[in-house]
Amino acid sequence: MNTITAAITAVGAYVPDYVLTNQILETLVDTNDEWITTRTGIKERRILKGDKLGTSYMCIKAAEELIRKSGVDPAEIDAVLVSTTTPDMPVAATSVYVATQIGAVNAFAFDIQAACSGFLYGMSAASAYIQSGRYKKVLLIGADKMSSIIDYTDRATCIIFGDGAGAVLFEPNYEGLGFQDEYLRSDGIGREYLKIDAGGSMLPASKETVENRQHYVFQDGKTVFKYAVTGMADVSEKIMQRNNLTKDTVDWLLAHQANRRIIDATAARMELDESKVLINIEKYGNTTSGTLPLLMNDFEHKFKKGDNLIFAAFGGGFTWGSIYLKWAYDKQ
Ligand code: UT7
Repeated sequence: MNTITAAITAVGAYVPDYVLTNQILETLVDTNDEWITTRTGIKERRILKGDKLGTSYMCIKAAEELIRKSGVDPAEIDAVLVSTTTPDMPVAATSVYVATQIGAVNAFAFDIQAACSGFLYGMSAASAYIQSGRYKKVLLIGADKMSSIIDYTDRATCIIFGDGAGAVLFEPNYEGLGFQDEYLRSDGIGREYLKIDAGGSMLPASKETVENRQHYVFQDGKTVFKYAVTGMADVSEKIMQRNNLTKDTVDWLLAHQANRRIIDATAARMELDESKVLINIEKYGNTTSGTLPLLMNDFEHKFKKGDNLIFAAFGGGFTWGSIYLKWAYDKQ
């Protein structure tokens, strides 16, 4: 077969050492372990501590692990894409700094912002670059330091999010493995329900915006939940239907880890056996762009060459979608 498909050929990840447990959150806000566990499935999350350490720090660590494991020469990487909602700074893309730091001296780089669907959209972009035949190695990193934009006095948001990063390498495949299909959606209606009001061009930072705590994430959880349950299940069902996949031929569901109940609802619509639904939300919470690559890294040892993976995500904006990918290697 001469057609080029875009396969994931290596993964790497990084999570910070500091563990923020439900018990610690109980000391910060009016909440409890039982509520958090039953409503979200989260037990703990990782938080990046340290002076002036931003998202790039975690991106570099994840990329370095991938480089070490795969033996890829960073100078051969053509592009470095970083999906993030928490860039190091508003101007000067995080990806550009990361590329230089990891020795990807011949790469171009840019950031992708699509909230919790950022990594999924990044998979679409990275795959398209490979399939075009113009590039041979595209490094895609999903990373977020959510703790930098979370209000730890707001129990509606601070229990959900954590920090983390993961990286994957896309390369051409000539056996039909890798990226197969995508169904990506967005709807601006979502902007009212999940947002940071200030710090952008519409409402620049001022003394008032800081005093009013407008630089933190606001989420109308109940509304986002409703859209997420329907949206993620709809796109996952659609991608199965149009690729003639059944509950038996799908091997793994890799869903954005925002809330265990949303993942379960998606899996139920797909009629998937529980054993095929990958979950690590209990360890990391919602790491936004980090969740899908962290899942791949945690469960890489289970994937077999040719396995059918369905990715699904839903996030702010709203943005959502599903990707069908055939895994391309057996872990050594
Ligand atoms: O990743 C990007 C997309 N984001 C998502 O997918 C997140 C979607 N939303 C959610 O996951 C859920 O809506 C939350 C986990 C955020 C909230 O769960 P919920 O079941 O929707 O709870 P709720 O907001 O409807 O609140 C139920 C009750 C309320 O009390 P009353 O009004 O019933 O007395 C809240 O005040 O729970 C209360 N509550 C809490 N109680 C203890 C809200 N947060 C907490 C808390 N601890 N942390």
